[in-house]
Amino acid sequence: MADTQPIIDVRNLYKHYGEHHVNALKGISLSIQAGEFVALMGPSGCGKSTLLNILGTIDRPTEGEVLIRGEAVFQQDEKTLTRFRRQQLGFIFQFFNLLTTLTVRENVALPLDLDPSLSESERSNAVSTMLERVGMSHRADFFPAQLSGGEMQRVAIARALVHQPHIILADEPTGNLDTENGEAVLQLLKSLSQEGGQVILMATHSEEAAAYANRIIRMRDGKIRPGA
Ligand SMILES: Nc1ncnc2c1ncn2[C@@H]1O[C@H](COP(=O)(O)OP(=O)(O)O)[C@@H](O)[C@H]1O
Ligand SMILES: [Mg+2]
Repeated sequence: MADTQPIIDVRNLYKHYGEHHVNALKGISLSIQAGEFVALMGPSGCGKSTLLNILGTIDRPTEGEVLIRGEAVFQQDEKTLTRFRRQQLGFIFQFFNLLTTLTVRENVALPLDLDPSLSESERSNAVSTMLERVGMSHRADFFPAQLSGGEMQRVAIARALVHQPHIILADEPTGNLDTENGEAVLQLLKSLSQEGGQVILMATHSEEAAAYANRIIRMRDGKIRPGA
């Protein structure tokens, strides 16, 4: 049945970093449905970023399968994979990763620059709408260096969502923020997930951060903890 098909389906995933003899993932299976806001929790080094990077198709698994909306992503050619990554994924990082030479507005527009079918006004409207949603319209012409950490992360969130991806991958999105700004960012992710219906998968080692999600998946030492 189409409407119960998971958005993300991970089957028996292994990641071995051969040159360092590290088994970062040891048989991960999970599935995530549309609209879920999932926290991937566990101590530093347990494999959260490795898993997110594989789901983001930035890295490849050693073994196992990743199905996104039923499609085995790593069986596709490089061109299809790149298109999938640009259209269906949004990334949020601990250190924001904004481009310092671009303004807030230009940073948020980046994912749209890859879509030639959009007109200039469609592009500009989409950026304005997203800046509004994250409360950053008044900083549209600022450069990243002129923003606080919390503001930078809100801009990064706008950039991750502007092309309306199905899946948002957030790796320790509050790891570099103070408590107050961290809570604001988590609240924003939570309300975006309630409005938008995208999947949000957030890696965090913080119980407080994980509490904002609808579901917590707990990892330890490259595996999902039983019962989690
Ligand atoms: N590129 C890499 N090469 C070798 N080992 C790596 C690499 N990336 C991560 N690791 C190792 O894999 C394990 C999981 O790392 P990571 O996924 O970053 O964990 P987490 O995000 O939960 O802190 C760690 O032991 C880490 O040292
Ligand atoms: Mg990590």
